[in-house]
Amino acid sequence: MNTKPNYQTWIRMNKLLIFLCLSLLLLLGTLFPIPVYLRVLSGVLSLPFLYIAFILSYSIYQFSAFGGNYQSRIHDLIVSKVDGGAEKILDIGTGSGSLIIKLAKHFPSSTLTGIDYWGENWEYSKVQCEQNAEIEGVSNRIHFLKASASKLPFQDAAFDVVVSCLTFHEVKDSTDKTAVIKEALRCLKPGGDFVFMDLFQDEKTFGDVNELIASLMKDGVSDIESYTLAEYIPMPSILLNKKVLGHGMIISGRK
Ligand SMILES: C[S@@+](CC[C@H](N)C(=O)[O-])C[C@H]1O[C@@H](n2cnc3c(N)ncnc32)[C@H](O)[C@@H]1O
Repeated sequence: MNTKPNYQTWIRMNKLLIFLCLSLLLLLGTLFPIPVYLRVLSGVLSLPFLYIAFILSYSIYQFSAFGGNYQSRIHDLIVSKVDGGAEKILDIGTGSGSLIIKLAKHFPSSTLTGIDYWGENWEYSKVQCEQNAEIEGVSNRIHFLKASASKLPFQDAAFDVVVSCLTFHEVKDSTDKTAVIKEALRCLKPGGDFVFMDLFQDEKTFGDVNELIASLMKDGVSDIESYTLAEYIPMPSILLNKKVLGHGMIISGRK
């Protein structure tokens, strides 16, 4: 068994490979014995693919521990927003378990549940989460479960704290992302805290963020705080690209 935990970044390696291969193929096209205009076309067409491959590689570097460590720093920020004394914690879209394991270490008397759909287009898995928790010495307090965020297999008010990081926008089995957020809040006990990080400023996915917050308040959620990621963590401008974390925002509050 591995002795080091494996927390992958939010960027899928297969996506990077696809863009790298396409760029290389198109660049190779410029060397083929074909008419010049086709070689020029091939070179021009390679540029957007090269640009995307560059953004993806740079983001992997900055998110990972060997680069800027931004992924871990964002998880630390979420942990810092969770009130002390948390007993039962739910992490929705737990990925490779990085956030939930940090929470387990920070709250030694807590019991935690991490759910994820672990779909085929993601490179995380339940086994990987369990191995990471084992290596980090917290596996006895964390339960990992395959489920969709759109229909959580828990009773109402089952958790003291609910967190989620960069997951709601990924939920494909519900077009109504506000409903997915409300499904998360359904599992939170009255008086419990939530901390959600996602691309909440992306209107195409979440609609107007002020309307989203107003809708949550109408449902009885209080003490809402919302802030852009950039307000808390200064980041390189490429990470603040709208296609990366430019729309990133944390919404926290109490039910
Ligand atoms: C960008 S990753 C974030 C992972 C983790 N929260 C983190 O911060 O490292 C998005 C996660 O959402 C999960 N996901 C996608 N659709 C989901 C769904 N319907 N229900 C639960 N999780 C889902 C993916 O499997 C993936 O682990």
